[in-house]
Amino acid sequence: MESSGRLKDRRTFLSFLAASPILAYAGLNSRWVEEVMAEPLPPQGTADLGAQNDAVIKSVKEALNVFDFDAAARTKLSTAHYTFITDGSFNNETLRANREGFNKYELRMRRLTGITKVDQSIKLFGATWDSPIFFSPVGRMNAYYPQGAVVVARAAKATRTLQILAGSAAILVDPKIMGDVIAARGEPVWFAGLGDTLDAPLIKRVEATGCPTLVWTVDDGGANTIGAKSVQRAGVRDLDRGADERCSGCHDNLPKVTRVQASDPIAGVGAVGALNGENSLKLTWDDVKRVRDTTRMKLVLKGVVTREDAALCVQHGIDAVYVSNHGGHEDASGRGTIECLPEVLEGAGGKIPVMIDSGFRGGADIFKALALGATAVGIGRPHIWGLSSFGQEGVETVVEILRRELQVAMAQTGAASIAKIRRDSLVTRS
Ligand SMILES: Cc1cc2nc3c(=O)[nH]c(=O)nc-3n(C[C@H](O)[C@H](O)[C@H](O)COP(=O)(O)O)c2cc1C
Repeated sequence: MESSGRLKDRRTFLSFLAASPILAYAGLNSRWVEEVMAEPLPPQGTADLGAQNDAVIKSVKEALNVFDFDAAARTKLSTAHYTFITDGSFNNETLRANREGFNKYELRMRRLTGITKVDQSIKLFGATWDSPIFFSPVGRMNAYYPQGAVVVARAAKATRTLQILAGSAAILVDPKIMGDVIAARGEPVWFAGLGDTLDAPLIKRVEATGCPTLVWTVDDGGANTIGAKSVQRAGVRDLDRGADERCSGCHDNLPKVTRVQASDPIAGVGAVGALNGENSLKLTWDDVKRVRDTTRMKLVLKGVVTREDAALCVQHGIDAVYVSNHGGHEDASGRGTIECLPEVLEGAGGKIPVMIDSGFRGGADIFKALALGATAVGIGRPHIWGLSSFGQEGVETVVEILRRELQVAMAQTGAASIAKIRRDSLVTRS
């Protein structure tokens, strides 16, 4: 019912648009509107749409939790882009596991703690951040909001949040974006290089921006079915985004590998089982040694989910381990990152900080990771939902909501600061 109500609102607006001269000014015609109206909204239920409000929120002030921004983003984005953000690869098993993993732990609440204020600040590599919540790298943010990465940088500055800029194809192609983001942030930002794209010239370019920390994402493995799901839901013919006028305006400007070619659909979407030698699967620990020897920036390995790999990170001089499964975008492990965290902490042996993301949607989720021993917790989709629906204000409000929820969890467990969060504030559900 609710979803058909939204569909009706969207159709009413689009019908108004079709009759309006605004379209002509924008260089579009009413056929574009007809095509957008024909796009089905993705079925609900693939993601955990836990919006608290009955209706889609119209302003950030109405938001009760971060899922409200998911529902709002769904009405603002094209079917293809919304599906790309939301879905997981394979049968969504890892996407679901990321959320279900939190059920394994419960919080032991203490009463009469007298805590009315909490300090959420953390220190990472000598820098202080207002809270342990950071923005995970998300590529191609212009697809979700005009100048998306720059807008997130403004929100990161306003909330003193650590932002990790994704070195997606758009940034590699357009170096200006990196400069714009740094200008908006007011200081150099962390940069995330993806798999085998992180070569010596790119590392030098990143270094030249003053970047203090290089995050190297090593979990993209040619198993990403999401691109295919996105274009199928949008009804794009033959998976060929480049040839479809709804997509070609933007996708034609991207390098070939980011486009899905009808002649070679696997190249762009990394369909199931594709070992195309173009991603992290071809990398080895010798490559880690190579990258480690190439730069003096702090080096963080993103995508580590086992004790063995965490121990190897320590051996190879990595400065922090980042537990992640790409938010369920890349693997079919069916294992939530919160379940991987204890063994990764064991492998790291307290020698280097452990960061984590994938599936974090509330203050209690974040609290659980911190109580287990994580240093910082990343959010991917939540900040993109905020960005897509309300721009900078949306991103800032997502951060504020999560900080408030974390504040309550901390106060209710008797922790006035992050250092005071205790492991025994968690009970493992039997
Ligand atoms: C749409 C989308 C694009 C992403 N792009 C990148 C990327 O370019 N580089 C990267 O390291 N991780 C990327 N990620 C993974 C995120 O950094 C992060 O690990 C993940 O979103 C965390 O899970 P969450 O979305 O459940 O919070 C992307 C994730 C999404 C959803």
